[in-house]
Amino acid sequence: MRMAKGIFITFEGIDGAGKSSHIEPLANELRARGLRVTVTREPGGTQLSEKLRALILNEDMDPLTEAMLAVAARRDHVNRVIRPSLARGEVVLCDRFTDSTMAYQGYGRGLDRGTLNRLDMLARWAHPGSLNAGEIACAPDITILFDIQPDAAAGRLAGTRAPDRFESEMVEFFKRVRGGYLALAQSSQDRFIVISALQDKAKVWQDVAASVLKRLGLDEEI
Ligand code: TYD
Repeated sequence: MRMAKGIFITFEGIDGAGKSSHIEPLANELRARGLRVTVTREPGGTQLSEKLRALILNEDMDPLTEAMLAVAARRDHVNRVIRPSLARGEVVLCDRFTDSTMAYQGYGRGLDRGTLNRLDMLARWAHPGSLNAGEIACAPDITILFDIQPDAAAGRLAGTRAPDRFESEMVEFFKRVRGGYLALAQSSQDRFIVISALQDKAKVWQDVAASVLKRLGLDEEI
């Protein structure tokens, strides 16, 4: 049984892909069609999870600690914000979710396959998506992956602000993260929409709006 009647949409991509700037415009587009929309982000979205975010982004720690803190932050966020919003029938637009943990901690930090499988189990346990807790994790209905080559993304980030622990990683790290994202997209093709974030911003926005409205059956109204 599905846990909710709302629609859960996540935004993913490497740092510098430009995903975040399309979230509010999409929220407004959906609101204009009469939908109630909650916009949120990870790590974060609750008071506790924002505190965990500050630790994850700034404190030195090993990859597994990083992953488990991200999952702990997600549990609080799902319990307090995402699940209640979906239960009210809202659209939830979330900047990053479990795919970020898989791509950054799993592929980026190079955790082994066994650890990735345990993270998958942890997600099902920490934030179950169904009444039969533990069967499936709370997961997005639609995930938009903003795909871009790491060297192009790095150019966009350069000099914008003081880099956090992830933004200061080398291009090789982001190549692994990007590869992880593409592998995730390949294995869940029904859920993922992959958009080239190398295009100019207006074209990326057109792709975002058109593909999401189509998935939701609202495209005839564009
Ligand atoms: P991001 O979403 O890019 O926000 P901002 O634009 O404000 O920097 O930053 C969050 C960072 O956290 C990003 O580098 C990816 C990382 N992250 C993980 O490593 N694992 C996770 O599970 C999540 C949610 C994020």
